[in-house]
This record gives sequence, C-alpha cells and structure tokens, in this order.
Amino acid sequence: MTAAPAVEAKNLFKVFGRNPKDAVKRLRAGQSRTEVADAGTAAVIDASFTVQPGEIFVIMGLSGSGKSTIIRMLNGLLEPTAGEVLVQGRSVTGASASELRGIRRQSISMVFQHFALLPHRTVIDNAAYALEIQGVGKAERRRRAMEILEKVGLGDRAEAMPDELSGGMRQRVGLARALTAGTDILLMDEAFSALDPLIRREMQEQLVELQRELGRTIVFITHDLNEAMFLGDRIAVMRDGRIVQNGTPEEILTDPANDYVAQFVQDVDRARVLTASAVMEPAHATTPVSAGLRGALRSLRELQAGSVFVVENRRLLGVVSDRRVIRAIKAGETDLRAIVDASVPTVSPDDPLTDVVERAVETTVPVPVVDAEGRLVGLIPRVTLLAALGNVPPTTQAIPIIEPAPSVPQSDLVASLAELGRSETDAAGLTASAEADAAGLTASAKGGDR
Ligand SMILES: Nc1ncnc2c1ncn2[C@@H]1O[C@H](COP(=O)(O)OP(=O)(O)O)[C@@H](O)[C@H]1O
Ligand SMILES: [Mg+2]
Repeated sequence: MTAAPAVEAKNLFKVFGRNPKDAVKRLRAGQSRTEVADAGTAAVIDASFTVQPGEIFVIMGLSGSGKSTIIRMLNGLLEPTAGEVLVQGRSVTGASASELRGIRRQSISMVFQHFALLPHRTVIDNAAYALEIQGVGKAERRRRAMEILEKVGLGDRAEAMPDELSGGMRQRVGLARALTAGTDILLMDEAFSALDPLIRREMQEQLVELQRELGRTIVFITHDLNEAMFLGDRIAVMRDGRIVQNGTPEEILTDPANDYVAQFVQDVDRARVLTASAVMEPAHATTPVSAGLRGALRSLRELQAGSVFVVENRRLLGVVSDRRVIRAIKAGETDLRAIVDASVPTVSPDDPLTDVVERAVETTVPVPVVDAEGRLVGLIPRVTLLAALGNVPPTTQAIPIIEPAPSVPQSDLVASLAELGRSETDAAGLTASAEADAAGLTASAKGGDR
C-alpha cells in the first residue's frame, strides 16, 4: 500500500466578493477573471496539485497571483469557494473547527514572512511554544526545542530574548518553532522574503539540509524564481489565480509551458538549478578497452577527436589522448589499459552546473558524467556548458554549418564563470584559473596537445 499524498488540492477555487458561487460557475463556463470581476475577485481558479511526502513543493508567482490564498486553503484558514483539500488523505474542506485544530496540531504547521515571536519569552520558550500548547511537559519540550535550535544554528542563543536577535535569527526561531511542533507538513509563506540576500541564501541552504535530514513535506511560497528553483523539487507557477505550469525546476527552465513562464525564467541563475544530467550529451567519444590501442586509434580518427574515453562494460576507466595512443603504438605496446589516464575529473548526474564548471576548468576534455555504479552516462563538452549557462537554446532554427573543432572564445568562458561567481563561487579564483586554462582550451581545439 502506498502512503496517501501529503497534500492534495482538487480543482480549488476561491473568489472574494459579493457572489463567489456565481463567479465560479461563470469561470467554469469559460469566462475570464476580468469578466467575472463584477461578482468578485477570483484569487484562485481551478487549481489542482498533489504534494508527495518528503517533497519541497514551491508555489511561485508575482504578487497578487493567489499564492497566499492557496496556502491558506491548505490548512483550512480559508474555506474554498469550490473544490477540495486533502491532507494526508483527510478532507480539510468542510472539517469542523475542532477537526481543523487537530489537523493543524498533528499534521500541518505554518511559517509566515514576518514571524511573530512572543517578545517576553526566550528563544527556546518561543521555539517550544507549539509543544506547550500541545501540553508537552516543560523538560521534554525544552529538550526537543533545543535539538531543533541546534539544527538551525541557534543552539548558543537559546536563552536570548527576541529583541536581542537579528532579523535572520528571528526567522530561524520561527522555523524552529514550526519544526519543533513536529508536524509532517510545513507551510511557508514568503518565509525568507524579508531577509537580506546573503542571509536568505544561507536560510535556503539550511532549509534544504534540514529537509534532507528531517524528511518533512514543505509547501513553500515565493515570488522569487531563483529561490523557487533552488528549493523546489517541483514548482507550480501561478499567474492571475491559475497554475500555468507544474513541473521540476529543470522542466520549467528547459521547457517552459508558455511565453509567460519563459519570460519569467529568463534571468534565473541557471548554474544553481540545472544539473549535469539536464545538459549532458550522449557519450560518443568512447572506445571499449577490449578494442585495444588500434581500436582507440580508429575511434580517434572516426570521431576526429583529440582524445577518447575508455570504457569497460560501460564503466569509465579514464581518457586517452591521440598523442599517447600513437606514442604507445610506435613503441610497440598493445595494452590500452596501461596508458589510460584515470585522473580525469568526473561529475555525477545530479551535480549542479556549478560543480561541472569547477571540473571544466581543470581539464580540456569534455566532463564525463558518471553514475553511482561508475558507468559513463554522458559527456559535457565546454560548449554545451557555456550554452546552458548563457541561455542559448541547444538547437536553432537555421541549419547549422559544420564548423571546425569548437573553440570557445576566452571572453565567453571568463564571462560565464564570472557570472557564476556572482552567485556563489569565488569569482576571482575561478576567473583567474579559467583565463589560464582558456589558453590551453584554444590550443587543444586547434589540434594541440601534440
Ligand atoms: N480577504 C480578501 N478579500 C478580498 N480580496 C482578497 C483577499 N485576500 C486576497 N485577495 C485578493 O486575491 C488576490 C490574490 O491574493 P493573494 O493570494 O494574497 O496573492 P499573493 O499571495 O500571490 O500575493 C489579490 O488580487 C488579492 O487582492
Ligand atoms: Mg502572499
């Protein structure tokens, strides 16, 4: 038996105003949000989605698109005009006040943008507040609150008062309170939006870590696409009350459902979002180790490449350059395995492009993508990497001219790396090594390394 979804929203409508039911009827009949404006404000229109246990599900959209209205229907703060919400298989819609209290206590808690801490209580008593309401004894609730405070990096501030904390710390206490409550599902409405960018980034990383460790289900609302992309296992994009796309960050980036979403995702920090598997190319430049030196030479010639990856039962052994192969053949050697360079840096399919870039600056060959079993599942040539980072579509309408070996203009490489540096990595360090290496790249593209 499979577990019930954590949250299920079925054809939810919420209309504020004079005649909500009538507005829903007309929306169902195909009228637009504007056309039903006389009957009320259609805040949410026919929204359906399912959140699986352990998922971070992000609802993203501009201000006024209906995000808060949806999340408030999930825990019964708002009654839908039509449709139904199920939490862990239990219907929230139409639940009595006491049933709702039970659901909120046991299943679903909420963190707001400006989290109201109780000003005359210490950090730990604030964090333990939900347990206090649940009637958990003092020693036990302080023990559980302390455990969570340590996880959110506030272990040493447990006895501080809220006004002694920075905004970021206060928000952490809010998060700690929600986590201490022990509910399986956490609703977070713009929970990080009031924080300054560096602290916000830190909180995002911490949330992902906590999520991995604690396995809670999180519904996270944001108007910030980068935040959505970083946090979300899946993202629902909202516009004017409707969910216009629901997919993984990669799907939304690489296959936006419409122009609106495409416009939205244009300036996203792609290096944090895209993973190696999303951009890798089929591994053609390979040769089986059993084919020996002659086989490697044949592959190099057929592929017109300067190096090939050597595999054994699809497992990557390493890389050999044309130069090494020819030298070995001249020397009368026959063993390909002996000359394989196994030190080639690899990435795994789930690694973000930031990691791929780190590898790419260390080497002039494409970066091999290797799965947990050591199998070569794809290659990422630098051009592919740069195109992905620079938002260049992988194919163009025009028929491509077959160009000589792709040489990446140094300026592009440096610019892309600098771009990356802005987000996270040490820009200066990367740029310097990229510059040094770009020279090597150009040389090898011209047929160097000989
Ligand atoms: N209680 C309310 N009464 C009337 N209109 C509301 C109410 N709450 C929200 N709205 C309207 O519903 C729309 C969606 O609001 P909201 O869900 O808060 O959007 P978001 O959280 O995406 O910014 C907006 O047009 C807003 O003005
Ligand atoms: Mg809101």
